[in-house]
Amino acid sequence: MIIRDAVLTDVEQMSGFLKELTASGKRKSPDSEPFVRANYIEDPGKIRCSIAEENGIVLGFQSLKRAEAGNKWGVEPGWGIIGTHIRPSAARRGVGRALFGVSHKAAEDASIEKIDASIANDNPEALAYYEAMGFRTYRTPEGLICKCFDLTGQPD
Ligand SMILES: CC(C)(COP(=O)(O)OP(=O)(O)OC[C@H]1O[C@@H](n2cnc3c(N)ncnc32)[C@H](O)[C@@H]1OP(=O)(O)O)[C@@H](O)C(=O)NCCC(=O)NCCS
Repeated sequence: MIIRDAVLTDVEQMSGFLKELTASGKRKSPDSEPFVRANYIEDPGKIRCSIAEENGIVLGFQSLKRAEAGNKWGVEPGWGIIGTHIRPSAARRGVGRALFGVSHKAAEDASIEKIDASIANDNPEALAYYEAMGFRTYRTPEGLICKCFDLTGQPD
């Protein structure tokens, strides 16, 4: 498995397995190729969007963006916003862990102090994943559990 930046030629596979996640009820956001292109590859707030690839198969990707003022997720401007999406057939193989190693470094390089992960409160796998990566719950708007990763090492 290698980790590299996502590029436009990855969009078809990324959208393909997002549709699998939608079909299984694990994704509620859009999953089309134009959405993937605009929101992950070409997002103006993008810090890094990394993919994990094995033998030409995209196993998963992780998006790290900078929260802009007035962002729709209600995240503090200047924080990072993270999203993780693993192909169902590649789950629980360490892909998400490997991706976070790269995103963590990208956040440090971008002088991001805190990263938000907003997770549906009925998604125990994602809650366990982010908890294992060191994220901790800091707010719970309706239907969501929002976890924060603190790169400053300072308690809130
Ligand atoms: C949740 C998700 C991101 C985890 O990615 P992954 O590549 O399967 O996770 P990893 O194999 O790297 O697991 C890292 C750690 O997270 C935790 N973890 C991951 N999946 C878990 C699960 N299903 N149940 C319990 N703990 C889990 C474990 O502590 C694991 O470490 P371990 O395997 O050594 O015990 C992935 O399953 C996914 O994309 N799910 C669907 C989409 C989604 O919900 N994304 C998040 C939206 S906010």
